[in-house]
Amino acid sequence: MRIDIITIFPGMFEPVLNESIVKRAQTKGKVKIQVHDLRNFTLDKHKKVDDRPFGGGAGMVLCPEPIFRAVEAIRRVARSSKRATKVILLTPQGKTLTQALAKNLSKHKHLILICGHYEGIDERIRQYLVDEEVSIGDYVLTGGELPAMVLVDALVRLVPGVLGDKNSLNFESFEGNLLEYPHYTRPALFRGMGVPEVLLSGDHTRIEAWRRSEALKRTKQRRPDLLKK
Ligand code: ADE
Repeated sequence: MRIDIITIFPGMFEPVLNESIVKRAQTKGKVKIQVHDLRNFTLDKHKKVDDRPFGGGAGMVLCPEPIFRAVEAIRRVARSSKRATKVILLTPQGKTLTQALAKNLSKHKHLILICGHYEGIDERIRQYLVDEEVSIGDYVLTGGELPAMVLVDALVRLVPGVLGDKNSLNFESFEGNLLEYPHYTRPALFRGMGVPEVLLSGDHTRIEAWRRSEALKRTKQRRPDLLKK
């Protein structure tokens, strides 16, 4: 899988992409992630990426030229056809990110993420360049950078071979629309607080039954909407 990110704040991505599982996935060659500074695709000497909105009003709007040029250049270098790439705009107006959407997007070989900014983005980018708009929730952030990182993280862990088997099984529990059961580790007695006896029993059938029942209980209490699905 290949993910290209177009942003005016490339520095924000470095610490996130260079730690933990996302870093290891890149080192192992499971995913190639490249961050592009939008200003490098401007044509004027001031590297201007935004302008005032036609018709007036507050705020600035991201111009179409640099974004179109960035996407075209990325496609050229990746030798990806228009059909093989999916261009995603991070915006609060998009489809809300869910595990199901992440799973669907993770099937694509090449994604180009555009981080929105300012008051907005020239509508022609939406109309003629973007294939899908994604929001990470009903709240407004200062830009699409953090949402792009959230999406990258959710996608990378779904790429085959990135997680160990154990973690992928954990993930399956959410797939089944259940929250996680409670976890415990050593010591068995900590400051007077114990651990459910069943987990120390070594009886794997009972442990499985307990975990499933706890997951159900927790889901009923916290997220009854998941059970309806
Ligand atoms: N840009 C600003 N807020 C956002 C959100 N909630 N999701 C995606 N992109 C955004």
